[in-house]
Amino acid sequence: MQTNIIITGDCIEELKKFPGGSIDLIFADPPYNMQLKNPLYRPDSTKVNGVNDEWDKFASFSEYDEFCAAWLKECRRILKDSGAIWVIGSYHNIFRIGNIMLNLGFWILNDITWHKTNPMPNFLGKRFTNATETLLWCSKGEQYKKYTFNHKIMKKYNGDKQMTSVWRIGLCTGDERIRGEDGKKAHSTQKPEELLKRVILSTTKPGDIVLDPFFGTGTTGAAAKKLKRNFIGIEKEPEYAALAKNRIDGITAFFPESCWEEENGEKKAKVPFETLLKEQLIMAGELLYARSGAAAVVLPDGRLEYKDHAGSIHRIGALIQQTPSCNGWKFWCVMRDGKLAPIDDLRSEYLKTRNLAAGGADKKCRPSDPLSR
Ligand SMILES: C[S@@+](CC[C@H](N)C(=O)[O-])C[C@H]1O[C@@H](n2cnc3c(N)ncnc32)[C@H](O)[C@@H]1O
Repeated sequence: MQTNIIITGDCIEELKKFPGGSIDLIFADPPYNMQLKNPLYRPDSTKVNGVNDEWDKFASFSEYDEFCAAWLKECRRILKDSGAIWVIGSYHNIFRIGNIMLNLGFWILNDITWHKTNPMPNFLGKRFTNATETLLWCSKGEQYKKYTFNHKIMKKYNGDKQMTSVWRIGLCTGDERIRGEDGKKAHSTQKPEELLKRVILSTTKPGDIVLDPFFGTGTTGAAAKKLKRNFIGIEKEPEYAALAKNRIDGITAFFPESCWEEENGEKKAKVPFETLLKEQLIMAGELLYARSGAAAVVLPDGRLEYKDHAGSIHRIGALIQQTPSCNGWKFWCVMRDGKLAPIDDLRSEYLKTRNLAAGGADKKCRPSDPLSR
């Protein structure tokens, strides 16, 4: 499937063209049907730049409900059984949407409260300042249990504490906000990247496909690219699609968290890297390769030498990526039979042979032409 693309068109029609069970994660920020009838003014008589766009208007609640049922039905069809969907909304629409989702068979995993740290005041002083939006995170149904949740990653991201379902994040302002030449917001509802970063970091793996049927300025695509995930955006307004493309094409740096991987499944026993040297599964003087093309030399004591630095597989991996930490077992590869093989495979082989106590490791793992230094 073609990924990292923006499709300009109506999402209901476009979603129908996707094969069933093909998408890992959907993030949807649909029209909210805000029903703003009259312009809103501040006490100083300046006009509030609210959401008064044509794309947010529906003739009636039933028309809005029918629209939501149609796109949500297609979303459920195209999700993998292990997939999940996030839908964001405000009090105007999220209860209607939640009801439709439950009726379609979706299963709510969490309702996240986005607590806006810099909300727009209630200018008329007739209600509380509205400072929250809700994100519904749902699997395809109660029986679909294999959805991704990166518990450890989110704990690490949250300073070693479990992250709660209340996320305090500011509205999208400053340099992040896309503006036209007149200085006005290019899109009335551009979401903060931090919100999408948390959504994607918590519920996808690197390489997954994230689809956004209401792409707008492409916040989902920007966060996906920075986290090394693939995206597909659908947006019906060509000018927003163009803004999104421009924004995403301009991204050259990844988030540091893009290389964080959850250790799922079988927990591997701790094996010091130098054990692989002792077992002659790897030789001093051999080169280890990163996917970026960087290479480091294995030293006799099990450390790596890279440029002027020497350190563990983890430390040198982190140095190359310029990240606070790195899982060197996942980061490095060795050349075996003309192909790159992750050093983690050597560790698995070592553990296998040790458990079998069969006297020596599988020959396939041994270096064919070890360089000695
Ligand atoms: C709430 S905004 C999304 C904003 C986006 N999350 C961002 O950060 O820029 C909803 C977007 O959906 C688009 N839209 C509305 N109806 C649509 C439809 N039927 N198909 C595709 N896009 C649609 C609108 O043009 C608008 O850009």
